[in-house]
Amino acid sequence: MSETRKLYVKSYGCQMNVYDSHRMADTMAREGYAETAVPEDADLIVLNTCHIREKAAEKVYSELGRIRILKQQAEADGRNMLVAVAGCVAQAEGEEIRRRAPLVDLVIGPQSIHRLPALVARARQGETAVETEFPAEDKFDHLAPPSQTATRTRGVSAFVTVQEGCDKFCTFCVVPYTRGVEVSRPVEKIGEEVARLAEGGVRDVTLIGQNVNAYHGADSAGRERSLADLLAHLSKIDGVARLRYTTSHPRDMGDDLIAAHRDLPKVMPYLHLPVQSGSDRILAAMNRQHGRQEYLSIVARVRAARPDIAMSSDFIVGFPGETEADFDETLDLVERVQFATAYSFKYSTRPGTPSADMEQVPEDVKSERLARLQLLIESKWRKFNEDYVGDCFDVLFEKPGRYSGQITGRSPYLHQVQVEAPVEMIGTIARVNILQSSRNSLFGELAAPTRVSTMPAALAVEGA
Ligand code: 5AD
Ligand code: SF4
Repeated sequence: MSETRKLYVKSYGCQMNVYDSHRMADTMAREGYAETAVPEDADLIVLNTCHIREKAAEKVYSELGRIRILKQQAEADGRNMLVAVAGCVAQAEGEEIRRRAPLVDLVIGPQSIHRLPALVARARQGETAVETEFPAEDKFDHLAPPSQTATRTRGVSAFVTVQEGCDKFCTFCVVPYTRGVEVSRPVEKIGEEVARLAEGGVRDVTLIGQNVNAYHGADSAGRERSLADLLAHLSKIDGVARLRYTTSHPRDMGDDLIAAHRDLPKVMPYLHLPVQSGSDRILAAMNRQHGRQEYLSIVARVRAARPDIAMSSDFIVGFPGETEADFDETLDLVERVQFATAYSFKYSTRPGTPSADMEQVPEDVKSERLARLQLLIESKWRKFNEDYVGDCFDVLFEKPGRYSGQITGRSPYLHQVQVEAPVEMIGTIARVNILQSSRNSLFGELAAPTRVSTMPAALAVEGA
């Protein structure tokens, strides 16, 4: 048997990359690579990169600068350290990466990650490779599943990619170019993966995709199924207590998906639905394919189906041509929807996207608008936390808390909740009375009396 080699993987950007990073680690584990958290020790370093905004892409090059020193050190010690750049920067920049950073041995796009073992074997022979095709074979069929030990180490919440790519072509976005057209995985394959995760102790599964609610995978009879159908199918898997999905597009928020929030108890009352702007003029320039009123009416329909649903969103400020009046419309939309939270970004010009050639908003104006929007979002987040003081709800405990004696978990609405309780309760769900809120967390106590069972599959913490 060959010696164990060490693999260091660093993930940037979205949850899809976190998922791909895990699957690359699982696949390399089959080849005898054990994961390390220390890059100095690694025989193989993989940077799984993000290209969504300029800042994210540039981070990779500063990291490669640091890695160059590690690689030189390893060589001085007689070790061969391979460096791979994977993910969306790899896809977008390809050969250019090796020109800017010649230390890189492998460049591998998101659709080719299953080819990592073969490329690494070639690189060990001194070959370099750039692999940014969209191969005909399905990467999911070739990637190794996680071992039960890996699943347990990663915790009780897991992501599962169900869909990749995007056909929407928002004018600011690189995703349609880096991740390609929409492709959905078959229902059965996702079911098998989720069942396996549940056996490994996972209780909370988030289905992920760039445009997850456009999901249209085939079932075992070859019939196309929607995300609502998939959620209904996964609801039947024992052990999985909570289902979530992200990220959705307003145009794909179908009636059946809205109804799933009402009818499927495992579907959690939380919806991340990016709107990007509150101005019809800007939404049109972004090619979002919906207006402000359409978004508001979707929110109203979702809330009619599930009145307690918490909503979050993404915003871009300073999109080309955005005026003060347009920006006011965004602020007004935040007021109207009362988001639990939101992510907001300054518009970043991405080469090759249609908006790169439009008239740009000055940087200082973007910064000032972003600060104002973030202040408003912050106040909504505070209110969202405060509103739950005095409530009682189920918390899924995930890990030890900040202070000894505490454990921390998630509410159905994704709050982080700190509770004084034994660590044996990690991986279980219990009812918690919420006593206090702070900026980032809620603090609560177990709704007494609570009986703890250590049987992992039973989700067996019950208020007696
Ligand atoms: N500039 C700024 N933000 C962007 N996003 C996508 N492309 C850009 C860009 N060019 C944001 C959007 C999207 C989130 C994932 O990133 O808000 O929803
Ligand atoms: Fe990008 Fe728009 Fe597709 Fe989202 S919906 S991935 S923002 S093109």
